[in-house]
Amino acid sequence: MPEFIGAIDQGTTSSRFLIFDKSGEVIASHQLEFNQYYPAAGWVEHDPNEILSSVHNAVEKTVEIFKSKGYKVEDIKAIGITNQRETIVAWDRVTGKPLCKAIVWNDTRTKQVVHALANSHPKKDINCIRDICGLPLTTYFSGVKLRWMLENVAEFKTAQEEGRLMVGNIDSWLIYNLTGGAKGGIHVTDVTNASRTMLMDIRKLEWSDELCDFFGIAAGALPKIVSSSEVYGNVSHGILKGVPIAGCLGDQQAATVGQKCFSPGEAKNTYGTGCFMIFNTGHKLTFSDNGLLSTVAYQLGPNSKPVYGLEGSIAVAGSAIKWLRDNMGLIKEASDIGKYASEVDSTGGVYFVTAFSGLFAPYWRDDARGCIIGLTQFANRSHICRATLEAICFQTRAILEAMNADSKTDLSLLKVDGGVTNSDVCMQLQADILGIEVVRPANVETTALGAAFAAGLAVGVWKDIDDIIATNADSQTVFKPSVDANSRDSRYAGWNEAINRSYGWA
Ligand code: G3P
Repeated sequence: MPEFIGAIDQGTTSSRFLIFDKSGEVIASHQLEFNQYYPAAGWVEHDPNEILSSVHNAVEKTVEIFKSKGYKVEDIKAIGITNQRETIVAWDRVTGKPLCKAIVWNDTRTKQVVHALANSHPKKDINCIRDICGLPLTTYFSGVKLRWMLENVAEFKTAQEEGRLMVGNIDSWLIYNLTGGAKGGIHVTDVTNASRTMLMDIRKLEWSDELCDFFGIAAGALPKIVSSSEVYGNVSHGILKGVPIAGCLGDQQAATVGQKCFSPGEAKNTYGTGCFMIFNTGHKLTFSDNGLLSTVAYQLGPNSKPVYGLEGSIAVAGSAIKWLRDNMGLIKEASDIGKYASEVDSTGGVYFVTAFSGLFAPYWRDDARGCIIGLTQFANRSHICRATLEAICFQTRAILEAMNADSKTDLSLLKVDGGVTNSDVCMQLQADILGIEVVRPANVETTALGAAFAAGLAVGVWKDIDDIIATNADSQTVFKPSVDANSRDSRYAGWNEAINRSYGWA
């Protein structure tokens, strides 16, 4: 009997549903974009109901394609969920309705909240709560976004006072609604998502009373923390009615599982809206001396030990390409960027620091803003396109250097995935800028695959991690460095100069 696993991949700009077979091959998939709301400079919002509709529609369409190929819905043994992380939704326990728009991970409205909270702490430092949650106090994580809602959204405050408040990241919002919403929906979040809220004790994997007090959030409003691989409940309605929801991971952690980075020392880098590198540190919780985050990489079952990771997060990657297309009109399709970038063999001295949301790891500067520097009359669209791709690659180098310094070993190759990696030009630039091999699998949908692995593991489609490792060994493309160390280092020195110029604008 054939067995299939579905995966909902709810990302920053689109929702997808994919169905995989046991060998990890994609059998059917469908993707839908949804609205981004930018009500003020630095603000980014999503409508939680639009996210739900996009997921429902992606599921319906994918299942239609699946059935048209002669397969049966009954053979979908479970579904997994993977999602944009940190983005937070608040809703009413009685009605199940959102209390306001979701505040998205890259929204920077909480800059003042962050400074006020840091000042209120005896340590007066962005790392004041890092020992408990593994994270620096910045605009990126959910805790400060919840605090902003408490201070600015009257319905949120009232719901909290009246015990009607429910909050959660996108995984929680989806699972709650897929399992019945206000009519008995399950309120859970997986441990990888919880590790991005700034409210979880990263050693105990429980909500921290101290952090809930610090942010002013009632623990009763938070979901139950569960492992990344277990049956949470069954879909209550629609085309997948009755199918168990059995896996859940934040998208970057899901890509770590999808890339099979199961051993300490392995790392992957996913190029989506942002770009995120996770380095597996095993069962050992490690703190960075170089601006990286400590995070839970995965916990594959309620009785399994958690595996931790160090993460380097870059806020802007694919979104810079989207900006060139939608705001500047420099390219028609995102995929055109490679074509223009390859028309020139250098940026002509142009650097583009894409600090639209300040700079995340390893810089952590919320006062930085985007700048294009080094322009002359010689510079044209091709140079800007190339500089945009280089910006992603230079930031990846900064993170790789931080990881090498923290782990005291030099990574010898980098596994990559995500939409932007479809650009050969970008991946060649990446290998040139890093000076190590960059390895891209044939299937770059590793995020969804990771969620499918977690779900399939919980229902016995795959027996254990070895069984997952044994799935279809993908063919790979390897990009090898093609420039010498001098040229690599002088370009990187120029980048660091440009980074310095971006500071202090906000
Ligand atoms: O932390 C934010 C991250 O989860 C967003 O991922 O794939 O939408 O860039 P992505």
